[in-house]
Amino acid sequence: MLPEAVVPALAVAAVAIPVLYRRLQLSLAKSPSLQGHPRIARRLARLVPFYDYTDAEFFRADGAPADVVDRRRAGFQRLACTLGHASASAAATGRLEQGFSDAQFTKAYRVPFQFRRHVNEHFPAASMLAESRGVTVTDLDGCVSYDLSGSYGVNVFGYDFYKDCIDAGIERVRHLGPVLGAYHPLIQENVDWLRSISGLDEVSFHMSGTEAVMQAVRLARYHTGRSHLVRFAGAYHGWWDDVQPGVGNPQVPCHTYTLREMDERTLRVLRGRSDIACVLVNPIQSLHPNRAAPADGTLLDSSRKANADRDRYAAWLRELRSVCSDKGIALIFDDVFVGFRIALGGSQEYFGVRADLVTYGKTVGGGLPIGVLCGTRAFMRRFDDRRPSDICFARGTFNAHPYVMAAMNEFLRHLTRPAVKAAYADIDTVWNARTARLNEALATEQQPVRVANLGSIWTMNYTTPSRYNWMLQFYLRAEGLRLSWVGTGRLIFSHNFSDDDFRAVSSRIQSAARRMNADGWWWRDPALTNRRIRSRIAREMVGALTRVR
Ligand SMILES: Cc1ncc(COP(=O)(O)O)c(C=O)c1O
Repeated sequence: MLPEAVVPALAVAAVAIPVLYRRLQLSLAKSPSLQGHPRIARRLARLVPFYDYTDAEFFRADGAPADVVDRRRAGFQRLACTLGHASASAAATGRLEQGFSDAQFTKAYRVPFQFRRHVNEHFPAASMLAESRGVTVTDLDGCVSYDLSGSYGVNVFGYDFYKDCIDAGIERVRHLGPVLGAYHPLIQENVDWLRSISGLDEVSFHMSGTEAVMQAVRLARYHTGRSHLVRFAGAYHGWWDDVQPGVGNPQVPCHTYTLREMDERTLRVLRGRSDIACVLVNPIQSLHPNRAAPADGTLLDSSRKANADRDRYAAWLRELRSVCSDKGIALIFDDVFVGFRIALGGSQEYFGVRADLVTYGKTVGGGLPIGVLCGTRAFMRRFDDRRPSDICFARGTFNAHPYVMAAMNEFLRHLTRPAVKAAYADIDTVWNARTARLNEALATEQQPVRVANLGSIWTMNYTTPSRYNWMLQFYLRAEGLRLSWVGTGRLIFSHNFSDDDFRAVSSRIQSAARRMNADGWWWRDPALTNRRIRSRIAREMVGALTRVR
């Protein structure tokens, strides 16, 4: 017989130990980086003080000697003349920035903040364009650039294709016009095609990728009766609170677990807990698991790493699939970015794994704004026949807008063409070969930059420690290559780049790297390491904080 006093203690232990064990499992499954700890990241972000470099510091943040600083200055001046304020595009963008918050934000975060003021004074954002044609865009001054921005991923088949989708689509629904709530009959084909492409039972239309993700998570919660969603460190799923728990979101979502991707510890958490409704996967993360979408604004050193491993990621998704099936957790593939780009059937086809719910967006709108959710009947149903008041509400005034449905119809019709279907089979071969050729050329010239890709989605990695890698975006711009505001972190090609177009882009990338190198930005003290760069920045921040206090 146990002494009486021990019994309550044992009872408490019997309850507490499994709880503590599950809590420990959860902690272990979080990525050790700030990416895995969004709350801490948010708090730390608030502490980071603004400071910037003086003119002299700007050019020798890595302790470069005077002759290198002189070369950098001269190169900077030359670039400032090329990209300077004289152009009509720059002037118009400058005027817009006064009253347009989006333009202010993207301009501010093009480069690490310490360099921001100097860069912005000399390199205007020049975000105004007049025309797109083939694989190029033309600005207000008539300057033509190859477009590597890909319009955030919308542009898979080339801008002219989307113009045609919109024109032809609008022509077909013109008589109905913007009538909402009822549908134009061509919606039927869209639903049929999307069901067939996704291999899923039902479809719903939304106004953006963010909304499609919101609906997927809401349905998962409704059907499982569970509260939490699991997302992976670094993954972007739109800007809705629950899926963006870290820096950038003033709220702290309480129903989100941010775990390590491609890690057994995460599978243990999924097996061990009973509060998880769904797991959200953004397959672009196969290029840089557990790391945020790369942006030059965070390019403090050269530790950015990316390298897609299709087989390993497929194996990981198979494991996830199996655990989710066992535990009744909804597996959601967020194909808003990679859908219709890496394969016709998106990541389900590319990685050979089926999801319960799949979100699409961007390109599938045929050039107009869209979010799509496809899912199994069991997850898509928004009401319960047995409990009429228990519904999962989702609406949206502009959902299934006739013009968007019509442009989408043109887009999806294009995919039914045998030649288009066949072209999908070659995507990896074509883009991997192009990537490899460019990397070979860069290696031969001993340039400290390489590209990594998932199909036609690229990111640039830097091979030697440097504080100035972000300068490359301006050299690329001067070569007539248009990037998005995240700079060399994300280059997105449309699939109408011919071999000749690509050769031209490649040679401009090489030329940009050559010039940047010649101007001394990649000068390197052999003792400089990424770690040293980071500790120097940490010291600068502490100094700035002390000054502020
Ligand atoms: C994977 C993914 N999900 C969701 C979104 C959000 O889509 P939208 O910008 O249309 O709201 C994005 C946008 O980049 C995305 O890449």
